[in-house]
Amino acid sequence: MMNRIKIAPSILSADFSQLGNEIILAEKGGADLIHIDVMDGHFVPNITIGPVVISAVRDKTTLPFDVHLMIENPIRYVDDFAKAGADIITFHAETNALLDTIKKVKDNDKKVGISLNPSTPLSVVNDVIDKIDLLLIMTVHPGFSGQKFIHDVLPKIEKGRKIIDEGQLKIDLEVDGGINENTAPLAVKHGANILVAGSSVFKGDVMERIKSLRLCAEGAKHKVFKE
Ligand code: DX5
Ligand code: ZN
Repeated sequence: MMNRIKIAPSILSADFSQLGNEIILAEKGGADLIHIDVMDGHFVPNITIGPVVISAVRDKTTLPFDVHLMIENPIRYVDDFAKAGADIITFHAETNALLDTIKKVKDNDKKVGISLNPSTPLSVVNDVIDKIDLLLIMTVHPGFSGQKFIHDVLPKIEKGRKIIDEGQLKIDLEVDGGINENTAPLAVKHGANILVAGSSVFKGDVMERIKSLRLCAEGAKHKVFKE
Protein backbone atom coordinates (compact mmCIF):
# COMPACT_ATOMS: atom_id res chain seq x y z
CA MET A 1 0.00 0.00 0.00
CA MET A 2 1.33 3.38 -0.95
CA ASN A 3 1.79 6.10 1.67
CA ARG A 4 0.58 9.69 1.34
CA ILE A 5 2.50 11.77 -1.21
CA LYS A 6 5.30 13.75 0.40
CA ILE A 7 7.00 16.78 -1.14
CA ALA A 8 10.72 17.25 -0.44
CA PRO A 9 12.02 20.61 -1.72
CA SER A 10 15.71 20.40 -2.62
CA ILE A 11 17.58 23.39 -1.24
CA LEU A 12 20.19 23.09 -3.97
CA SER A 13 18.06 25.53 -5.99
CA ALA A 14 17.39 27.86 -3.05
CA ASP A 15 18.91 31.30 -2.56
CA PHE A 16 21.88 30.33 -0.39
CA SER A 17 22.26 33.87 0.92
CA GLN A 18 18.80 33.38 2.49
CA LEU A 19 18.95 29.68 3.21
CA GLY A 20 17.26 29.78 6.61
CA ASN A 21 14.35 31.84 5.25
CA GLU A 22 13.97 29.60 2.22
CA ILE A 23 13.62 26.58 4.52
CA ILE A 24 11.06 28.43 6.67
CA LEU A 25 9.06 29.27 3.51
CA ALA A 26 9.19 25.65 2.37
CA GLU A 27 7.77 24.51 5.70
CA LYS A 28 5.02 27.16 5.53
CA GLY A 29 4.18 25.98 2.02
CA GLY A 30 3.53 22.47 3.32
CA ALA A 31 6.79 20.66 2.57
CA ASP A 32 7.10 17.29 4.29
CA LEU A 33 10.89 16.98 4.23
CA ILE A 34 13.84 19.22 3.40
CA HIS A 35 16.04 17.52 0.80
CA ILE A 36 19.73 18.39 1.10
CA ASP A 37 22.13 17.50 -1.72
CA VAL A 38 25.70 16.83 -0.67
CA MET A 39 28.23 16.55 -3.51
CA ASP A 40 31.96 16.02 -3.25
CA GLY A 41 33.35 16.77 -6.71
CA HIS A 42 34.36 13.09 -7.06
CA PHE A 43 31.23 10.96 -7.16
CA VAL A 44 29.67 13.79 -9.16
CA PRO A 45 31.44 16.73 -10.81
CA ASN A 46 29.80 19.36 -8.61
CA ILE A 47 30.65 20.42 -5.04
CA THR A 48 27.90 21.66 -2.70
CA ILE A 49 27.60 21.72 1.06
CA GLY A 50 28.59 19.67 4.07
CA PRO A 51 27.69 19.17 7.73
CA VAL A 52 28.59 22.73 8.79
CA VAL A 53 25.83 24.26 6.69
CA ILE A 54 23.35 21.57 7.68
CA SER A 55 23.88 22.22 11.38
CA ALA A 56 23.64 25.98 10.78
CA VAL A 57 20.08 25.65 9.47
CA ARG A 58 18.96 22.73 11.63
CA ASP A 59 16.98 24.95 14.00
CA LYS A 60 15.07 26.72 11.20
CA THR A 61 12.51 23.94 10.94
CA THR A 62 11.25 20.85 12.68
CA LEU A 63 10.83 19.05 9.34
CA PRO A 64 13.05 16.01 8.81
CA PHE A 65 16.29 16.62 6.94
CA ASP A 66 16.53 14.21 4.01
CA VAL A 67 20.24 14.18 3.25
CA HIS A 68 21.23 12.84 -0.18
CA LEU A 69 24.92 11.98 -0.22
CA MET A 70 26.41 12.05 -3.70
CA ILE A 71 29.87 11.32 -2.39
CA GLU A 72 32.46 8.60 -2.62
CA ASN A 73 33.10 6.50 0.46
CA PRO A 74 29.95 7.66 2.30
CA ILE A 75 30.63 5.52 5.39
CA ARG A 76 33.41 7.88 6.33
CA TYR A 77 30.99 10.80 6.80
CA VAL A 78 27.87 9.16 8.24
CA ASP A 79 28.65 10.17 11.84
CA ASP A 80 29.25 13.79 10.81
CA PHE A 81 25.94 14.09 8.96
CA ALA A 82 24.07 12.38 11.77
CA LYS A 83 25.54 14.84 14.26
CA ALA A 84 24.76 17.78 11.99
CA GLY A 85 21.04 16.94 12.11
CA ALA A 86 20.23 14.55 9.27
CA ASP A 87 17.15 12.42 9.88
CA ILE A 88 17.42 10.29 6.75
CA ILE A 89 20.84 9.55 5.27
CA THR A 90 20.77 8.31 1.69
CA PHE A 91 23.87 7.19 -0.16
CA HIS A 92 24.42 5.79 -3.63
CA ALA A 93 24.37 2.11 -4.53
CA GLU A 94 27.24 2.84 -6.96
CA THR A 95 29.58 3.42 -3.99
CA ASN A 96 31.19 0.67 -1.91
CA ALA A 97 30.38 -1.12 1.36
CA LEU A 98 26.59 -0.95 1.15
CA LEU A 99 25.92 -3.24 4.11
CA ASP A 100 28.47 -1.60 6.39
CA THR A 101 27.20 1.86 5.50
CA ILE A 102 23.61 0.85 6.22
CA LYS A 103 24.71 -0.46 9.60
CA LYS A 104 26.59 2.74 10.36
CA VAL A 105 23.51 4.87 9.64
CA LYS A 106 21.36 2.56 11.79
CA ASP A 107 23.91 2.69 14.61
CA ASN A 108 23.36 6.46 14.57
CA ASP A 109 19.58 5.89 14.95
CA LYS A 110 18.85 7.49 11.59
CA LYS A 111 16.75 6.30 8.68
CA VAL A 112 18.76 4.93 5.80
CA GLY A 113 18.18 5.29 2.08
CA ILE A 114 19.87 3.95 -1.01
CA SER A 115 19.89 5.86 -4.27
CA LEU A 116 20.22 4.57 -7.83
CA ASN A 117 21.54 6.50 -10.80
CA PRO A 118 19.29 6.40 -13.89
CA SER A 119 21.30 3.59 -15.49
CA THR A 120 21.72 1.47 -12.34
CA PRO A 121 19.36 -1.53 -12.22
CA LEU A 122 17.19 -2.28 -9.21
CA SER A 123 18.88 -5.65 -8.83
CA VAL A 124 21.85 -4.00 -7.08
CA VAL A 125 19.68 -3.56 -3.99
CA ASN A 126 18.29 -7.10 -3.95
CA ASP A 127 20.38 -8.10 -0.95
CA VAL A 128 19.75 -4.97 1.09
CA ILE A 129 16.18 -3.94 0.25
CA ASP A 130 14.83 -5.41 3.50
CA LYS A 131 17.31 -3.34 5.50
CA ILE A 132 16.53 0.17 4.23
CA ASP A 133 13.85 2.78 4.92
CA LEU A 134 13.95 4.59 1.60
CA LEU A 135 14.72 3.85 -2.03
CA LEU A 136 15.68 6.92 -4.06
CA ILE A 137 15.42 6.55 -7.82
CA MET A 138 17.18 9.31 -9.75
CA THR A 139 15.37 10.67 -12.78
CA VAL A 140 18.34 12.83 -13.80
CA HIS A 141 22.06 12.13 -13.71
CA PRO A 142 23.08 13.35 -10.25
CA GLY A 143 25.17 16.49 -9.98
CA PHE A 144 23.01 19.47 -10.87
CA SER A 145 19.50 20.78 -10.44
CA GLY A 146 17.48 22.10 -13.36
CA GLN A 147 17.92 19.06 -15.63
CA LYS A 148 15.22 17.35 -17.68
CA PHE A 149 13.32 14.38 -16.24
CA ILE A 150 14.46 11.11 -17.88
CA HIS A 151 11.26 9.32 -18.84
CA ASP A 152 13.08 6.03 -19.48
CA VAL A 153 13.37 5.60 -15.70
CA LEU A 154 9.59 5.29 -15.21
CA PRO A 155 9.51 1.47 -15.59
CA LYS A 156 12.16 1.19 -12.87
CA ILE A 157 10.00 3.27 -10.53
CA GLU A 158 7.07 0.99 -11.26
CA LYS A 159 9.17 -2.09 -10.63
CA GLY A 160 10.46 -0.61 -7.36
CA ARG A 161 6.88 -0.04 -6.21
CA LYS A 162 5.94 -3.59 -7.13
CA ILE A 163 8.85 -5.03 -5.11
CA ILE A 164 7.97 -2.85 -2.11
CA ASP A 165 4.27 -3.68 -2.18
CA GLU A 166 4.63 -7.37 -2.91
CA GLY A 167 7.20 -7.70 -0.12
CA GLN A 168 5.01 -5.56 2.17
CA LEU A 169 8.14 -3.56 2.89
CA LYS A 170 7.92 -0.31 4.85
CA ILE A 171 10.03 1.66 2.39
CA ASP A 172 9.43 5.10 0.94
CA LEU A 173 9.95 5.34 -2.81
CA GLU A 174 11.48 8.72 -3.58
CA VAL A 175 12.07 10.21 -7.01
CA ASP A 176 14.59 12.98 -7.61
CA GLY A 177 15.30 15.09 -10.70
CA GLY A 178 13.24 17.18 -13.08
CA ILE A 179 10.05 17.02 -11.02
CA ASN A 180 7.48 19.66 -11.96
CA GLU A 181 3.71 19.82 -12.50
CA ASN A 182 3.99 17.66 -15.62
CA THR A 183 6.34 14.99 -14.32
CA ALA A 184 5.10 14.73 -10.70
CA PRO A 185 1.88 12.94 -11.76
CA LEU A 186 3.93 10.52 -13.89
CA ALA A 187 6.21 9.66 -10.99
CA VAL A 188 3.22 9.13 -8.70
CA LYS A 189 1.34 7.02 -11.26
CA HIS A 190 4.37 4.77 -11.46
CA GLY A 191 4.53 4.39 -7.68
CA ALA A 192 6.62 7.17 -6.12
CA ASN A 193 5.43 8.53 -2.77
CA ILE A 194 8.13 11.15 -2.13
CA LEU A 195 8.87 13.78 -4.76
CA VAL A 196 12.06 15.83 -4.58
CA ALA A 197 11.79 19.16 -6.35
CA GLY A 198 14.52 21.78 -6.61
CA SER A 199 14.20 24.31 -9.38
CA SER A 200 10.44 23.93 -9.75
CA VAL A 201 10.03 25.02 -6.10
CA PHE A 202 12.78 27.55 -5.47
CA LYS A 203 12.80 29.34 -8.81
CA GLY A 204 9.37 30.76 -8.08
CA ASP A 205 7.07 31.62 -5.19
CA VAL A 206 8.15 28.81 -2.85
CA MET A 207 4.87 28.40 -0.99
CA GLU A 208 2.72 28.56 -4.10
CA ARG A 209 4.99 26.20 -6.01
CA ILE A 210 4.82 23.51 -3.30
CA LYS A 211 1.03 23.74 -3.13
CA SER A 212 0.73 23.49 -6.89
CA LEU A 213 3.06 20.48 -7.08
CA ARG A 214 1.12 18.73 -4.35
CA LEU A 215 -2.18 19.32 -6.14
CA CYS A 216 -0.81 17.84 -9.37
CA ALA A 217 0.79 14.91 -7.59
CA GLU A 218 -2.25 14.05 -5.50
CA GLY A 219 -4.48 14.21 -8.56
CA ALA A 220 -2.57 11.29 -10.05
CA LYS A 221 -3.46 7.75 -9.15
CA HIS A 222 -0.88 5.04 -8.83
CA LYS A 223 -1.77 2.71 -11.68
CA VAL A 224 -0.47 -0.60 -10.36
CA PHE A 225 -1.44 -0.81 -6.72
CA LYS A 226 -4.16 1.57 -5.60
CA GLU A 227 -4.68 2.51 -1.94
C1 DX5 B 1 20.55 16.31 -8.44
C2 DX5 B 1 20.02 16.42 -7.04
C3 DX5 B 1 18.62 16.86 -7.00
C4 DX5 B 1 18.39 18.24 -7.58
C5 DX5 B 1 16.98 18.30 -8.06
O1 DX5 B 1 21.75 15.66 -8.44
O2 DX5 B 1 20.09 15.17 -6.38
O3 DX5 B 1 18.05 16.76 -5.69
O4 DX5 B 1 18.61 19.27 -6.66
O5 DX5 B 1 16.80 19.49 -8.74
P1 DX5 B 1 15.65 19.63 -9.85
O6 DX5 B 1 14.35 19.38 -9.17
O7 DX5 B 1 15.81 21.02 -10.34
O8 DX5 B 1 15.93 18.60 -10.92
ZN1 ZN C 1 18.93 14.97 -4.46
